[in-house]
Amino acid sequence: MTIRAGRPAVRALQPSLIRKLANAGIGRTDIIPLWFGEPDKPTPEFIRQAAKDAIDEGQTFYQPSRGIIELRAALADYTNRLYGASFTPENIVVTPSGMTALSVALQCMIADGAALVLPSPVWPNFAGSAEILGAEVVRVPIRPRAGVWSLDLDELFAACPAHTGALAINSPNNPTGWMLEDDEQRRIIDFCRERDIWLIADEVYNRIVYDRARAPSFADKVTDDDKYLIVNSFSKSWAMTGWRLGWLTAPESLAETLGSVSEFNFSCVFAPVQAAGITALQLGEPFIRESVARYRSALEAVERRFAELPRVTFPKPRATFYAFFAVDGVADSYAFAEKVLRETGVGLAPGAAFGPQGEGYLRLCFAADVALLERALSQMRPLLS
Ligand SMILES: Cc1ncc(COP(=O)(O)O)c(C=O)c1O
Repeated sequence: MTIRAGRPAVRALQPSLIRKLANAGIGRTDIIPLWFGEPDKPTPEFIRQAAKDAIDEGQTFYQPSRGIIELRAALADYTNRLYGASFTPENIVVTPSGMTALSVALQCMIADGAALVLPSPVWPNFAGSAEILGAEVVRVPIRPRAGVWSLDLDELFAACPAHTGALAINSPNNPTGWMLEDDEQRRIIDFCRERDIWLIADEVYNRIVYDRARAPSFADKVTDDDKYLIVNSFSKSWAMTGWRLGWLTAPESLAETLGSVSEFNFSCVFAPVQAAGITALQLGEPFIRESVARYRSALEAVERRFAELPRVTFPKPRATFYAFFAVDGVADSYAFAEKVLRETGVGLAPGAAFGPQGEGYLRLCFAADVALLERALSQMRPLLS
């Protein structure tokens, strides 16, 4: 007998195409995996040590559902330092991952049947977690224009139906590396105020930027009277994907509600993981600088190789560690990624995983050593030429 989920919205969920493809490669030992979005190096030792110390001290008990005050204070300071904002620990909720921050945010904002407006292509978990809640997802295309990914804000605003509950913006964007500028963020806030809709801003790639030290953020533009939630994570900036540690920045008056939603979702985050987060914030700046320098060299290597391939169109990412590229003649990205895997052993993510706007593209994560990337690009060359 096949048991199916009781909720129709859950029954309708589609499995992740990236996972599906990765499963197709299980058992092969020769694969160069560039399909997942994570740094290739383990978390730095000084961060790992902080967690080990906390475990040795016996920090194994339940913790406050909004996070320990020391970490919430450290996160408020960090954001204020980075963006000249004036958050207090009351604006911060610690979550077990950026993913959970997103689902908590959506649970707070999305009423039954409301629309979530989502510039796409975008990380698939936005649509998945909104659909679980019964939201209608309305996608607005991020398109390459003159070799740069861009979003037409007039088109975005015009696409928001009357029943829009929230506008969800991921900038810097996974998978394209597109990034909003300050003036565009101000226009978006004005629009949300005017229409009285929620803004959910996913800024998990705000430190992996190539033309400045940090991406423009909604953090220095919102006020405590705005309906906003900013999602962030330790995963990408501090190479902590497996730890599951993220946070939300939100208006102070929402603190109690967010505490309850957190309590009823995950209760609290493991104290040693939170201790590691504090150390990452205190000592992690040199690590971020070194990582971005490595990713920049990797990006330059990818750009050089792609420039030699006339069939490849590669709008340059301004941030993140993803190359999102199209190959002339490729219409079915999943079939092509499967072929690349089968014939070259290189694991790419199919663009269709990021919504219909991503179809025809492939995503390559270049958070890897240049030598490995060069090998992957050489192996793929016959299929891209
Ligand atoms: C845009 C975006 N937001 C959030 C996340 C979630 O990060 P985590 O759940 O590891 O904190 C990811 C991970 O790939 C992402 O790409």
